[in-house]
Amino acid sequence: MKLIVAVTGASGVSLALKFIKYIPKDIKLFVVFSNSAKLSLKLESNIALPNSENIIYYDNKSIDASISSGSFGVDAMIVIPCSANSLAKFAVGIADNLISRVFAVSLKENRKIVIVPREMPYSLLFLKNMTKLSKMGVVVAPPVLAYYSGQKTIEDMERFMIGRWMDMLNIKNSLYKRWSDEKSDI
Ligand SMILES: Cc1cc2nc3c(=O)[nH]c(=O)nc-3n(C[C@H](O)[C@H](O)[C@H](O)COP(=O)(O)O)c2cc1C
Repeated sequence: MKLIVAVTGASGVSLALKFIKYIPKDIKLFVVFSNSAKLSLKLESNIALPNSENIIYYDNKSIDASISSGSFGVDAMIVIPCSANSLAKFAVGIADNLISRVFAVSLKENRKIVIVPREMPYSLLFLKNMTKLSKMGVVVAPPVLAYYSGQKTIEDMERFMIGRWMDMLNIKNSLYKRWSDEKSDI
């Protein structure tokens, strides 16, 4: 599988690094950070960028990178986290950097796209932009906590969310305890 990971400047950029860390090594990753994502990473966390043979990093200015073309075979894209700014660009088709270009290409190629918008509360504009993308088949999956599978620590919460994002991209994982009840009621 080939997966594009776009990291934009919302809070929680470290979630993207952990997502990358947990991705199975047989998945090829193409990773792009926006400038604001780099800034928010510096301000919020001191985690180093993962380095591994299955990861290629691109500069967001490299509009000519291979991943910007529909002819370069990629299976899916995740934008994690997704800023209000990038969300708005995606919703109107602006393609002025590698991330927004790759999004526009993924949309036209009907690829699986998952976005992880992070803002609180949502403005009506934010909600409208998410609705617009959702109607086009984009999976809108914000970083929302859950308490139903025994989470006790922040790490457990993060593994739950990362596992759910992987589920949406059809990436097998056992990062969290799934809700299951296979007993018959009668
Ligand atoms: C530390 C930090 C945290 C931020 N958190 C958010 C956020 O949670 N959501 C958001 O939409 N924008 C957030 N912003 C603002 C965006 O970074 C800003 O709008 C930027 O233009 C986004 O650019 P990009 O979409 O190219 O990454 C944050 C900025 C900084 C510096």
